Amino acid sequence: MRRPMIAANWKMNKTMAEARSFIDAFRGLVRDVTDVDIVLAPPSTLLCKLRKETDSSNIMLASQNMFYEDKGAFTGEISADMVKDFAEYVIIGHSERRQYFGESDDVINKKVNKALEKGLKVIFCMGETDEEREEGREKEVIAKQIKNGLDGVGSLDNVVVAYEPIWAIGTGKTATPEIAQEVHLFIRNEIRKIFGNETAEKIRILYGGSVKPGNAAELMEQPDIDGGLVGGASLDAEGFAQIVKFKG
Ligand code: 13P
Repeated sequence: MRRPMIAANWKMNKTMAEARSFIDAFRGLVRDVTDVDIVLAPPSTLLCKLRKETDSSNIMLASQNMFYEDKGAFTGEISADMVKDFAEYVIIGHSERRQYFGESDDVINKKVNKALEKGLKVIFCMGETDEEREEGREKEVIAKQIKNGLDGVGSLDNVVVAYEPIWAIGTGKTATPEIAQEVHLFIRNEIRKIFGNETAEKIRILYGGSVKPGNAAELMEQPDIDGGLVGGASLDAEGFAQIVKFKG
């Protein structure tokens, strides 16, 4: 059985004061959860503070991004070593990084390899646009993202995959459990082709795109959906705790 993971991607949201009131409430709400990995990915300005607030708790942290160089003149960027000071995970390949910041498969691949080399765990994101799905190309697009993004990666032991169809992100238009399951199984089978059966069965594949308290359970019930990467609905402590506790 794969252990579920529910991860919050706060994106560019929350000041220090807002993060403090979230964590004050959230810690208590999920204190008794022992059978789900809980991850918060705040903006990097909040990682240090949240590290202190979540030490010796059941909450892990992720950075939303990192750069692939070790150090130097890269204004505005943070390195894998810097992330490692505070977080266990880093999100790489999010569609917003691909779309708004021009991150290519090649850049994403460099980041994945650097993060793993430095001992970080990676939440590796992929997903198709509305147009690509309408043209029936979603599987081709996803297969390419997997092949290119994970090129040169020896082991997926420290990788979690997130399938986030772009048409479902922040739109309120969730993929139906059946559509998500179909793609998750496809992703698992693509991973099987490259990394073998054992890795494919072990790797966790999260669904992201308008996950809410009301739809989390039916998505997580699907055999190849091993958790969620939650944007908007992760900003509210009560709502996100409900998603973490999807098993009831
Ligand atoms: P929403 O949950 O707001 O649709 O965002 C999903 C997402 O992009 C998580 O990384």
